[in-house]
Amino acid sequence: MFVSLFLLLLVLAITVFLTISFYVTIFGGGPFVPTPMPAVHKVLKVAGIKKGQKVYDIGAGDGRFIHFAAKDYGANATGYEMDPSVYFIAKMRQWFWGWKGKIIRSNFQRYSLKNADVVICYMMPNTLAKFQKQFDKELKKGAKVVSYAFHIGSWKPKKLIPKEGKISQIFIYQK
Ligand SMILES: C[S@@+](CC[C@H](N)C(=O)[O-])C[C@H]1O[C@@H](n2cnc3c(N)ncnc32)[C@H](O)[C@@H]1O
Repeated sequence: MFVSLFLLLLVLAITVFLTISFYVTIFGGGPFVPTPMPAVHKVLKVAGIKKGQKVYDIGAGDGRFIHFAAKDYGANATGYEMDPSVYFIAKMRQWFWGWKGKIIRSNFQRYSLKNADVVICYMMPNTLAKFQKQFDKELKKGAKVVSYAFHIGSWKPKKLIPKEGKISQIFIYQK
């Protein structure tokens, strides 16, 4: 009796969880597609992150960018992830793999980017275009935005790193 009730509640909880994730993916900023690890390391290298700088991933996925930004570059790294199931994966990485950085389960647009030194993103161009206004308004002078694979709205990149093998192009913007 108790076992059946427990299983029923578990199935219900998982269903609610996955339904929320589905809607976040469809109506939010798109699905979780992890950046390949060699590309993660290249993006972080070309971003020129210095120790102690504030680095944000505005759609953190499993938290790979913020982990390596903190571990390899000593960044003060924060990732926002709005999809609860993807956020859960990121937390599992931190609990069981010891991944670093801070993960916040939220739409990043609820937070200000005014202290950011480097913003990292890997999102579809139509999604990025919607964020351009917020970047324009909040980012301080000198802040960098490094976008893996896709350009940001009407911005002109300061530097464009071309595709290299399986690693897509990288757009570097600076305010
Ligand atoms: C293509 S994945 C990239 C994940 C990770 N940055 C990587 O490169 O491996 C984009 C992620 O951004 C999340 N996302 C999209 N819009 C967002 C928003 N406004 N705030 C927080 N997360 C967002 C999605 O849920 C998805 O997991």
